[in-house]
Amino acid sequence: MTFDTIIKGGTVVTSHDTYKADIGIIDGRIAAIEQDLTDATDIIDATDLLVMPGGIDSHVHISQPSGDGVTMADDFESATRSAAFGGHTTLLPFCLQSRGQTLRDAVAWYHGLADGNCYTDVSFHLIITDPTPQTLNQDLPALVNDGYTSVKVFMTYEGMKLSDKEILQTLEAAKDCGALPMVHAENDDAIEYLRDVAADRGDIAPKFHASTRPIPAEREATHRAIALAQIIDVPIMIVHVSNGDAIDEIKAGRARGSTVYAETCPQYLVLTADDLDTAGFDGAKYVCSPPPRDTASQAACFAGIEDGVFDVFSSDHCPFRYDDREGKKHPEGIKTFKYVPNGIPGVETSLPILFSEGVSKGRIDLQRFVALSSTNHAKMYGLYPKKGEIAVGSDADLALWDPNRREVLRQDILHHGADYTPYEGIEVMGFPVRTILRGKTLVADGVLHQPKGIGQYLSRAKSGEALEA
Ligand code: URP
Ligand code: ZN
Ligand code: ZN
Repeated sequence: MTFDTIIKGGTVVTSHDTYKADIGIIDGRIAAIEQDLTDATDIIDATDLLVMPGGIDSHVHISQPSGDGVTMADDFESATRSAAFGGHTTLLPFCLQSRGQTLRDAVAWYHGLADGNCYTDVSFHLIITDPTPQTLNQDLPALVNDGYTSVKVFMTYEGMKLSDKEILQTLEAAKDCGALPMVHAENDDAIEYLRDVAADRGDIAPKFHASTRPIPAEREATHRAIALAQIIDVPIMIVHVSNGDAIDEIKAGRARGSTVYAETCPQYLVLTADDLDTAGFDGAKYVCSPPPRDTASQAACFAGIEDGVFDVFSSDHCPFRYDDREGKKHPEGIKTFKYVPNGIPGVETSLPILFSEGVSKGRIDLQRFVALSSTNHAKMYGLYPKKGEIAVGSDADLALWDPNRREVLRQDILHHGADYTPYEGIEVMGFPVRTILRGKTLVADGVLHQPKGIGQYLSRAKSGEALEA
């Protein structure tokens, strides 16, 4: 057989195996995994490198409407470029329905931003903020049928949160059409109460973002989200879990027999609330929700990474520029933490952090890294085995990693649209050196090799179908 490309001499890592082999690629797909493949137009030397499925980040926010005078730092071009440099080949951004907007219009608008502008493949989750009968009974089933098979709801954020009754209605609709529900779990009334108390005291600095969104507010909402899903008898994904109490709620739900999936993110492994407690306004660089917690919470999240509580590891990339009136230094945001845009950049740094903190420090093995960073996302969200796998027939989406390469994460080596990284100065061991999308090198040794538009939109199967694959 003559291949378009052979990846030669590397160590292939999947979620279930690690072995030496060459990979032969034809027409963007893996055509052979064997020893000593020779005949190809292009041979890529992977000696001393790990050959893993390209990263899939199933929690990113790109060009998401974020309030008056606030603009996200990344569009689809910059976010997917940054993701490719970080070892990703597929992103699942959220398509937010604004109140009063139909879900179909939200999807059409979002395609207008994404189509033709991506370096990685993309596929949208839906966010429902306006669960009207048309949204739940017409648009959602039609969109799920068209391959938009996951839907997120918020229990907090003014203008986006749903009541418990609305969540139940949305869960029922999701169950009926086979969409996987995802929940942002924080108790909004508790947060509002604590913010009022903070305002009365004149507590306006960024650090009060963390203290007004305490662990019990996340724990209670996680419990409630799982209970609501149990009432409807539908699986649920708890996103961006930040601490041990919420993890305990997930374990308790599973012990009762519920299907509860869970995700954590780098900010809960390597940041704490102390990062928000800096002189001046610098703490705003770390304002995200749920906020980074404490070292005990970090340890609990690491334990969940190790022991299998977490199914997926995502960045929750939600970038705003720091030194910008449309970003963290929004005129209202500098008056009080309450109006600092929520979210931090991280799509390029997430996998090096997981690899370094997880694999290089001996907490997890390579297979678990691949499961958390790629395969489980593909299975959970209906992309498997086209994505997230190294097997004959799968897309040749690959990330070649040098496990011995040291890097210091710094803003000036990154490719996102933000003007800072919250991970500045963190040293990582292990770094992606080549990212390959459907057989084509996207990035190699710090150089972008493809034009924007190479990334395609992916229609997805239902989650349950994929998990059975
Ligand atoms: O602070 C965050 N995480 N912003 C993004 C929106 C969300 O809650 O996922
Ligand atoms: Zn969220
Ligand atoms: Zn998010």
